[in-house]
Amino acid sequence: MIPHYYQHFCPVKILSGHNAVSNIPYEMDILGCKRAMVVTDKGVVDAGLINLVREAFADSDKEIGCVFDEAPPDSSNRLVNKLAKLFEQEKCDCFLAVGGGSALDTAKGANIVISEGTDDILLLQGNEIIKKDLLPMIAVPTTSGTGSEVTKVAVIYNEEKNVKMAFASDRLYPRVAVLDSRMTMTVPPKLTAATGMDALTHAMEAYTCLQKNPIDDVFARAAIELVRKYLVRAVENGRDEEARLGMANASLLAGIAFSNSMVGMVHALAHACGGVCHVPHGMANAILLPHGLEYNISGIPRSIAELSGMLGGSIEYMEEKEQAMVTVSLVKNLLGRLSRISGLPVRLRDAGVTEDKLPAIASAAINDGAMAFNPVEVSYDEALEVLKKAY
Ligand SMILES: NC(=O)c1ccc[n+]([C@@H]2O[C@H](COP(=O)([O-])OP(=O)(O)OC[C@H]3O[C@@H](n4cnc5c(N)ncnc54)[C@H](O)[C@@H]3O)[C@@H](O)[C@H]2O)c1
Ligand SMILES: [Fe+2]
Repeated sequence: MIPHYYQHFCPVKILSGHNAVSNIPYEMDILGCKRAMVVTDKGVVDAGLINLVREAFADSDKEIGCVFDEAPPDSSNRLVNKLAKLFEQEKCDCFLAVGGGSALDTAKGANIVISEGTDDILLLQGNEIIKKDLLPMIAVPTTSGTGSEVTKVAVIYNEEKNVKMAFASDRLYPRVAVLDSRMTMTVPPKLTAATGMDALTHAMEAYTCLQKNPIDDVFARAAIELVRKYLVRAVENGRDEEARLGMANASLLAGIAFSNSMVGMVHALAHACGGVCHVPHGMANAILLPHGLEYNISGIPRSIAELSGMLGGSIEYMEEKEQAMVTVSLVKNLLGRLSRISGLPVRLRDAGVTEDKLPAIASAAINDGAMAFNPVEVSYDEALEVLKKAY
């Protein structure tokens, strides 16, 4: 069904290939930039990935002005304020973010602070609050999950209030996204599994939530089919180039889908698990996805049933709600397989959540922005019930 009204926007140039990073200086030239600030974290540096980026600059007239490797696991408000000052001191003219969602969002956050001329990012939280054009940003994801390289969103942790805050604006899209299979080969199996499940959650929530539309359905479907084909392969053999590039594309396609269609209760609950108990984002989504899908069957059995085909399930001659339950079972099967081969937890109790924290998570979740896009309303009691099932 075509919605009464919808919008779709993705202004990001995409480069994908086994050696795509080598084109970064050329892209800087097109953007009119000379001196990049690399934003990354220690794990990415230790994996040797910044060396691959440096090699790309070796024969060019473009330069790396500074490598900032202190992006924290969840980008934080104080840190982006600090990074913005460093960018100005080092006289850089663009951001080159190399890392997972945390490094990419840290660069996005600092870019907001610089371009808006503020010294406190918290003043700009919310939807379309940013009014000035941002400096060019090139994003090189080193995990395949968040899709931040093609989204209009930055998720920043508010250290004073212990909550994750979302900043969303059409100005926040990076200018170029660079997918290079070499950049994700060093991701350990458990993190490959968790981030891959984040991508799957983006695609499935985009396909089932309130801003669902025919264009994002195409991106979401393509992403889910790539996850089905490549996620287990990438976890089993991290050096599998084809699987790594396949998952990088899955994550990007899912990112395009959810940046427009938005996500729902699974992300709302996962953000709350991150805020209250510091459960890593992908891990929280992985655990909660089957439970969120099952909860939503009462409102949108058709859309959830359709997902089963994308995961390779057969639903012929079944009633709609039974078909939708096949989707839930297939997601649980995938999660079980990932858990066996990588140690990814399948329950919140094994992911650092204690039972006494569930009420705090439920109340943070019902106030999370993503909840507004869920196709079925979720009360505090219902959120708590879903959390107990996942616990
Ligand atoms: N902006 C968006 O659209 C968006 C969407 C979803 C999630 N997020 C945010 O993204 C963050 C999570 O990002 P993430 O899941 O990519 O994890 P991450 O960026 O926090 O990275 C996790 C760990 O993996 C390491 N790592 C990254 N790449 C590696 C590689 N190639 N080899 C070895 N180690 C590597 C890092 O050093 C880090 O220790 C959360 O803060 C979440 O809120 C943002
Ligand atoms: Fe996510």
